[in-house]
This record gives sequence, structure tokens and C-alpha cells, in this order.
Amino acid sequence: MAQIFPKAVNPVTRLLVLGLPMMFGATGVGLAAFYRSSYATGVDEIVPQPVAFSHAHHVGQLGIHCLYCHTSVEESHFANIPPTKTCMNCHQEIWTGADLLAPVRASYRADTPIVWNRVHNVPHYAYFNHSIHVAKGVGCYSCHGPVDDMNLTWQSKTLLMEWCINCHRNPQENLRPTSEVFNLRWQPGATADGSPQVWVRADLPNYGKNPDGTDTTEAAELLGKPRPDNQPELGKVLKELYHVRDAVTLIGCSNCHR
Ligand code: HEC
Ligand code: HEC
Ligand code: HEC
Ligand code: HEC
Ligand code: HEC
Repeated sequence: MAQIFPKAVNPVTRLLVLGLPMMFGATGVGLAAFYRSSYATGVDEIVPQPVAFSHAHHVGQLGIHCLYCHTSVEESHFANIPPTKTCMNCHQEIWTGADLLAPVRASYRADTPIVWNRVHNVPHYAYFNHSIHVAKGVGCYSCHGPVDDMNLTWQSKTLLMEWCINCHRNPQENLRPTSEVFNLRWQPGATADGSPQVWVRADLPNYGKNPDGTDTTEAAELLGKPRPDNQPELGKVLKELYHVRDAVTLIGCSNCHR
């Protein structure tokens, strides 16, 4: 049979032409339910790994910063998984004989990477980028949940298109000061001792400096002052401060299907 589409046609286009009419048909109801089920999306499913690496121990208890291991998440579309060398910075000294770490030592000695199983997977025809989200104040927590409580890592959101779009429609509900992006326990409002949270330099685009090193007017007005203590007000200010675009632009298909 002749091919209906030339090889290079984007799968999204193909689905739009073939898939959408089907989704509106009677069978679509069952399919749509399957498509959202945790079985199909992988939500909450603990993924087995070659080494029992625990974020709960390393992040929750030891307090190691995400950037120590996921070094590229601020600059790149991709958040890297650390090489064995990063583990050995510590494990050459501690827990050196532990059986749990045998595959790590073997990987280091043989100079072959540990093959981790992926937990999150967005299909290749959708474009995702970490750096823009991090730069605009979307926290790791908003998309990955309580990683500091996880022994083996699991996916806490569906990663379906409707999930992406829900946030792109209402980004202000999910924006936080950029200084808090890595903080999995952050909440708007007062700090633990009751004092208000204040604006710090790391919250300001380009660190709020003029080329001659003085503070910009924007920075001078904010630094050290209390931040709004509730999400609706804070989100509104952040949306402007970080120049987050309007919802109509952000839900445009070509943002994510390029
Ligand atoms: C000591 C190193 C280390 C630190 C610190 C660390 N991670 Fe990880 N992370 C890993 C390793 C190794 C993996 C791969 C194994 C796994 O999925 O658990 C991973 C996997 C992940 C994954 C799943 C990736 C996938 O396959 O989809 C997410 C999400 C993640 N880390 C988020 C975070 C966040 C958020 C922080 C900071 C709060 C953090 N990590 C801190 C080492 C680290
Ligand atoms: C900054 C130091 C540090 C780094 C980097 C580090 N670890 Fe650890 N790791 C520790 C400490 C300390 C413990 C002991 C934790 C405890 O007893 O609660 C530990 C324990 C472990 C254990 C034993 C089980 C557990 O969680 O208690 C495994 C497995 C492990 N680490 C794997 C890794 C892997 C894989 C990497 C690299 C991706 C890594 N570690 C990077 C400090 C580190
Ligand atoms: C806006 C949502 C969002 C935010 C914010 C976010 N992630 Fe992710 N993350 C994702 C998605 C979606 C994937 C799967 C990407 C794919 O399959 O191409 C992912 C994948 C990962 C991976 C696996 C490697 C990769 O890039 O595919 C790691 C590690 C990770 N994230 C760590 C982090 C850390 C650390 C932070 C905070 C600094 C963070 N993420 C913030 C949505 C997010
Ligand atoms: C929790 C909120 C949130 C979620 C969830 C989210 N995003 Fe975003 N996304 C944002 C914000 C905020 C921006 C920055 C918008 C701006 O700069 O105007 C953004 C920007 C982007 C951009 C850059 C657009 C451009 O043209 O530069 C892409 C691509 C993108 N997101 C893809 C995705 C995909 C794919 C998913 C789902 C897998 C996703 N996002 C989930 C909040 C989110
Ligand atoms: C914010 C990012 C984002 C935007 C904007 C977006 N998509 Fe998607 N789209 C995704 C992601 C992620 C997937 C893969 C996950 C899934 O299947 O839901 C996807 C999947 C699809 C699929 C595959 C079928 C399906 O639903 O699984 C089609 C068709 C599609 N998108 C069409 C569109 C069209 C048409 C638009 C514009 C009206 C659009 N998308 C806008 C992120 C986006």
C-alpha cells in the first residue's frame, strides 16, 4: 500500500489529521480515559534503578543542592544526571564498603557510566526546556513534587499536554521568586520565625545591576522590602517582573510543537 504520509511528517500533524476525528468518536471516551490513567502516564510509579540512590537521604537529610548533581538545569533544556565521578567525590570516603554502592564503584573503576532508567518522558514531538522555566520562577517542586521525600524517584504529575497548558494559561499561580526555585518546601507568606520574606538580589532579573555596577531603580525599590505574602498578589508582581508573556501567546501550539 502506498504511504499516506511522506516519512518526514511530524507525528503531531499525523495525529491531528488521523487522530482527532477518532477522538471525537464513540470509542474516544474509553481511549481518553485510558490516556489519562496512571497506568498510561506513569504517575506515582516507582521506577527501579541499578543503584538504590535516594533523594530522601541525599537531599532531604544531607541537604545537598540540586545543582551539585543536576548542573545544567539552569542553562540547558536538559537537566543532566550526574556522572559517577560526582558520587565518588563523597563515596571514595564514606560508605566505601557498602554493598549498595558496589555498582557505583564498578562503574568508576571500569569508567563506564551507570545506566539510570528514565522516570520522566515527554514524547519527542513535544519540546520542553528546563532553563526557561527555572529563569522565570517555576520551581522544581511545581513539576516534580516532593523529591526530597523520595527514596526511588517517581513522577508526580501526568506530563500530559493538558497539564502543560493549564499552567501556561495561568502561570501566575505557579510563579515563585527565582531565589526559591530549588527550595522544595517554599510557601508564600511568613518565614518559620514569623518575619516576612523579603526581596533578595537573586530574585531580580540580571541581578538588578546597571552596567556601571549601581542598582537599577527597580532593584533599589524592591531589595530588602517584604514580598507580597499571598500567591495571587505575589504571582501578579512576579509575572511582570519576569516579563512572563500572556496566556494566549503561551498556549500557542508552536511553543511546544516546533
Ligand atoms: C547527589 C546527587 C543528586 C542530587 C543532590 C539531586 N539529584 Fe536528582 N537525581 C540524581 C540521580 C543519580 C538521578 C537518577 C536516578 C533517579 O532517577 O533517581 C536523579 C534523578 C532525578 C529526577 C528524575 C529524572 C528522570 O529520569 O526523569 C528528578 C526529577 C530529580 N532528580 C530532581 C532533583 C531535584 C529537584 C533535586 C534537588 C531538590 C535533586 N534531584 C538533587 C542525583 C541527584
Ligand atoms: C556530598 C556527599 C555525597 C554525594 C555527592 C553522594 N552521596 Fe551517597 N551518601 C552520602 C552519605 C553521607 C550517605 C549515608 C547516608 C545515611 O546514612 O543516611 C550516602 C548513602 C548512599 C547510599 C546508601 C543508601 C542510602 O541512601 O543511605 C547509596 C546507594 C548512595 N549514597 C549512592 C549515591 C550515588 C549513586 C551518588 C551519585 C549520584 C551519591 N550517593 C552521591 C553522601 C553522598
Ligand atoms: C515546568 C515543569 C518543570 C520544572 C519547573 C522542572 N522540571 Fe525537570 N522535567 C520536567 C519534564 C517535563 C521532564 C521530562 C523532559 C523530557 O522527557 O524531555 C523533566 C525531566 C527532568 C530530569 C531528567 C533529565 C531531563 O532533563 O530530561 C531531571 C534530572 C529534572 N527534570 C530535574 C529538575 C530540577 C532539578 C528542577 C528544578 C531546578 C526541574 N527539573 C524543574 C518538568 C520540569
Ligand atoms: C507550573 C507551570 C508550568 C508548567 C507545568 C509548564 N510550563 Fe512551560 N512555561 C511556564 C512559564 C512560566 C514559562 C515562561 C513564559 C514566558 O517566558 O513568557 C514557560 C515557557 C515554556 C516554553 C518556552 C516558550 C518559548 O517560546 O520560549 C516552552 C517550550 C514550554 N514552556 C513548554 C512546556 C511543556 C512542554 C510543558 C509540559 C511538559 C510545560 N511547559 C509545562 C510554565 C509552565
Ligand atoms: C505547553 C506545551 C504545549 C502546547 C502549547 C501544545 N502542546 Fe500539544 N502536546 C504537548 C505535550 C507535552 C504532548 C505529549 C503529551 C500528551 O500526549 O499529552 C502533546 C501532544 C499533542 C498531540 C498528540 C496527541 C495527544 O493529545 O496525545 C497533539 C495532536 C497535539 N499535542 C496538538 C497540539 C495543538 C493542535 C496545539 C495548539 C492548539 C498544542 N498541541 C499545543 C504540549 C503542548
